Amino acid sequence: MSGQDRTSNNKLLAWVDEIAAMCKPDSVFWCDGSDEEYDRLCQELVDAGTYIRLNPEKRPNSYLARSHPSDVARVEDRTFICSATAGEAGPTNNWKDPAEMKGILTDLFDGCMRGRTMYVIPFSMGPLGSPIAQIGVQITDSAYVATNMKIMTRMGQKVLDVLGDGDFIPCIHSIGAPLAEGQADVPWPCAPDISDKYICHFPETREIWSYGSGYGGNALLGKKCLALRIASTMARDEGWLAEHMLILGLENPDGEKTYVGAAFPSACGKTNLAMLIPPAGFEGWKAWTVGDDIAWIKPGPDGTLRAINPEYGFFGVAPGTSYDSNPSAMDTLHSNCIFTNVALTDDGDVWWEGMDGPPPAHAIDWKGNDWTPGMDHPAAHPNSRFTAPAGQCPCIDPAWEDPAGVPISAFLFGGRLSKTFPLVYESFDWNHGVFMAATMGSEATAAAIGQAAIRRDPFAMLPFIGYNMADYWGHWIKMGARTDIRHPKIFRVNWFRKDENGKFIWPGFGQNMRVLKWILDRVHGRVEAEESPFGQQPRHEDITWQGLEFTRDQFDSITEIAKSGALAEVEEIKAYFATFGDRLPKELDAERQKLADRVSGAPEVWKLAG
Ligand code: GTP
Ligand code: SPV
Ligand code: MN
Repeated sequence: MSGQDRTSNNKLLAWVDEIAAMCKPDSVFWCDGSDEEYDRLCQELVDAGTYIRLNPEKRPNSYLARSHPSDVARVEDRTFICSATAGEAGPTNNWKDPAEMKGILTDLFDGCMRGRTMYVIPFSMGPLGSPIAQIGVQITDSAYVATNMKIMTRMGQKVLDVLGDGDFIPCIHSIGAPLAEGQADVPWPCAPDISDKYICHFPETREIWSYGSGYGGNALLGKKCLALRIASTMARDEGWLAEHMLILGLENPDGEKTYVGAAFPSACGKTNLAMLIPPAGFEGWKAWTVGDDIAWIKPGPDGTLRAINPEYGFFGVAPGTSYDSNPSAMDTLHSNCIFTNVALTDDGDVWWEGMDGPPPAHAIDWKGNDWTPGMDHPAAHPNSRFTAPAGQCPCIDPAWEDPAGVPISAFLFGGRLSKTFPLVYESFDWNHGVFMAATMGSEATAAAIGQAAIRRDPFAMLPFIGYNMADYWGHWIKMGARTDIRHPKIFRVNWFRKDENGKFIWPGFGQNMRVLKWILDRVHGRVEAEESPFGQQPRHEDITWQGLEFTRDQFDSITEIAKSGALAEVEEIKAYFATFGDRLPKELDAERQKLADRVSGAPEVWKLAG
């Protein structure tokens, strides 16, 4: 069917014609989003060697893809924010002049789809027709992308029907691998040289252009490019928030339900926390998942901040996912999934490091080679991922598609910090909470020895903010000053404190419920807290310990604050803030001074009294 049979939106039709004329594909295909279409595209990908159909008895309607070894993760160095001036992109982003970048891109895209099909994918971020949803249209020459977009977004004809003659966000994607006449294709075509990849955002015109990669956030443009980088600029202009946050609902035995949003950097446990199962000692409690990666948060008519998950699926890290660490994720993956860069077992199923039970005696690794457990490299790539329909999650919240969103009562921020930072602390007020989120750090791995001890990842948004980071902090401060909003409380959490042997002290995962319960008690005004140099901390007696062996000494060791570490933090924050020049909101510098004063008045080791 031609575009005219699908939509009367002249702007869309003209844009598709224009892009087709530039990219010169063999044909143009408008995705209708049906299951038949999905099955057909998957079969074509199987025939092309891109997908391997998994054993239908073990993993029905599911596929494995192996990417090119150069194309395994987002490419932050090749991600550009092309705002009018460098100042608007800010010191944490790669900036390029928009006209200059358009020039580079139009050269790259000229003829880039030769020998390929150009897919037109209308998609909605957020429930179809919801006033908070945004419609995008992605053009791509990758059927892998088209099939993943079917799981990750609401997509197809129903989106065109809702769009009518309205506005959409144009998202142009090419894997950057045109085929010459008679040239054979490869299973994972892409532009293998990293410097040939470009992930570009034009915040003023709200456009996305992505070239050269077929993987994850580089290629599924609804996710990080639209729902975070472009949406964060829309949120600034329109008075809402677009955040790298999971959304979790907690229901107590009386049926009282409280929602929290939590921002952790990539691969720091959002999917785990989003699907938490209350442990022993929490009988009668239920935890519900609304989203595991992105939240769009808008003030509701009653003043509560209302959050929706703009996505329709989970694109989760596979390694480490097991019935032990995340049973709900495992149960979500039983069928209808796409796995990328995991290992293939001899019985046609998938495997990755950290899955329950012993490793298979033999498997095919993510590069397609024979693998046995003794080898010096993992069978699954560390950033291998599953693409899974959110609706299959056994603990998906009944309200997860409510267009009005769910009311958020607390924001949590946390990174990987092996020392100094306590298990949990609450801010004294909103601006202090913004300071806690803005200065959030996460440790790099052993490979980064010699660099700064902590990589600052403010709000877990470092790779995802579409404008100047300091202005984004200012936007949060402005949201805090609004009198028409009922403000959630703000917390920092840290599951990652280590002992002198380098082992995590806190058991984490389901046991994080104990911290969440204290947070809820604070939200509902049920417990007091104790003031520390960093914030307000829980007294030992106010944490529910039933069902867990954890000594008072262990608790002290993850809640105490060494003055030397805190002083170093104060100094680092000073230097970090200086990199934002006079765009740094004065409120944050005031918070920095207050922290410095509290720390200098603190004992050598601050410990909880209660
Ligand atoms: P993106 O999808 O990349 O945005 O990341 P994510 O935050 O959803 O990451 P994910 O949930 O996949 O992070 C998984 C990693 O966090 C694994 O290495 C887990 O072992 C670790 N993790 C999750 N929860 C905990 C916890 O409570 N304690 C500890 N120590 N590790 C945890
Ligand atoms: C992340 O890196 O935070 C992700 C994966 O959620 S990707 O979609 O590839 O960005
Ligand atoms: Mn993420």
